[in-house]
Amino acid sequence: MHAELSRTPDDLPIKDEHVGTDSEAMRELAQKIEDLIYFPEKIEKPARISKIWEAFSEEIQHHIDVDVCALFRVDDRTHEFALKHWRPDDEEDNCRLEIDAQIECGMFAWIINRRLPAVIPSLVFKNRRTLIMLPLTTQTKTLGLVMVVTTIQEGAITHERLKLLAILAKQCALIMENTLLYAQLQKEHASLQKAQQRIIQAEKFSAFGRMTSGAFHEFLNPLNILSGHLQLMEMSDLPADQIRDYAALMRTQTDRMAAMVKSLQRFSAPRKRDCRVVDIAPIITDAMDMARNRHADADVAFELDMASGCPTVDINPEDLLRVLSHMLDNAYEAIPQSGRIQIQLRSGYYEDVRPSREKMVVCRLVDNGNGIPADNQGKVFDPFFTTKDIGEGTGLNLSICYALIQSMGGTITVQSEEGQGTAFSVYLPAAS
Ligand SMILES: Nc1ncnc2c1ncn2[C@@H]1O[C@H](COP(=O)(O)OP(=O)(O)OP(=O)(O)O)[C@@H](O)[C@H]1O
Ligand SMILES: [Mg+2]
Repeated sequence: MHAELSRTPDDLPIKDEHVGTDSEAMRELAQKIEDLIYFPEKIEKPARISKIWEAFSEEIQHHIDVDVCALFRVDDRTHEFALKHWRPDDEEDNCRLEIDAQIECGMFAWIINRRLPAVIPSLVFKNRRTLIMLPLTTQTKTLGLVMVVTTIQEGAITHERLKLLAILAKQCALIMENTLLYAQLQKEHASLQKAQQRIIQAEKFSAFGRMTSGAFHEFLNPLNILSGHLQLMEMSDLPADQIRDYAALMRTQTDRMAAMVKSLQRFSAPRKRDCRVVDIAPIITDAMDMARNRHADADVAFELDMASGCPTVDINPEDLLRVLSHMLDNAYEAIPQSGRIQIQLRSGYYEDVRPSREKMVVCRLVDNGNGIPADNQGKVFDPFFTTKDIGEGTGLNLSICYALIQSMGGTITVQSEEGQGTAFSVYLPAAS
């Protein structure tokens, strides 16, 4: 920096500053360095260019007597310099005139090309004022220029003072560049989010299409059975016990349709209802015990591996019990003869599911069943997706589980390898 500054032309004399005793000089220097180091902390966060300017122009006044101070910014599109901020308020016209005059005599271009501060006489401000021009540059960019108008004579502006102002301008340029980059990043992030929402919306429409065609298919089967048996009953004089058999069969079909409508209702309006802050471990133990009882005759080991001291969660405990029960039944159904189902409970920060670094509790259901083919892994949460035979399964349970966990502020992910097994992870935000 010293070498660069010393390239200031000979007609702009720069004196060395003489300060009292050595220790006094050291103290003053240390104070100035400290001011410079802590300058970025004086800027309100999140930073805005106007706030950076306020802090910067105030800081300049600690180092030199300032009459007028102005910030010219480079317009990114036109690459021209434009007056953006100035103080005091009534000096706008003089600032514009000064910079026009400096541009006309070539001084402005010279300063910008050298990317170094300069001390020059004012062409506009009267009474022998001096200009200190501080280019705001970073390694890659020229962001603007600060013009300081002072009554201090050119020759009395010391090399050290100019150097301090140059360091301050460098700091200001870096903060401005970071602020502009951050603003640009936020803009890009917002547009990415919009694009992502559009994709989600499109995916919702296609899931809705799959759901309605699945629903029609599921309702058509029992409807066909009903109408077939009604026709049979109309056409012939059937004995009473045959009619009773048909009626029983028809009732199973209407029950099936009613169950599907109920499930669909629950799916379409899952609500965050009756939530309370609870410890999740007893709910998992209950779900496990119930599954063990339901499948007592099978050669399947149900195991628990729960870390102690997991945070509480704000959920509907009955809904979570239902979710775990459905998922345990799915795991059981995926095991051909004998196998193992384990529930693991952990907590921590899982940035791949919650980038906001919110603490989560995760309940992982791991089985060593058939696994899910890669092609199907993205479909298991779709309503009506099932690999069971017609009339065997609704294909609604996992989609209901997903909607219920979402309504509690959580999410479910799936990992699976065909022939090896499957792991479903239920993530819930920690309440404590
Ligand atoms: N643990 C698992 N291992 C392998 N496949 C699974 C597992 N869990 C779910 N699946 C797959 O996801 C599909 C959808 O599951 P879901 O519980 O929604 O419906 P279903 O089990 O087919 O029907 P229902 O629950 O009404 O009996 C299943 O048919 C199965 O193919
Ligand atoms: Mg199921």
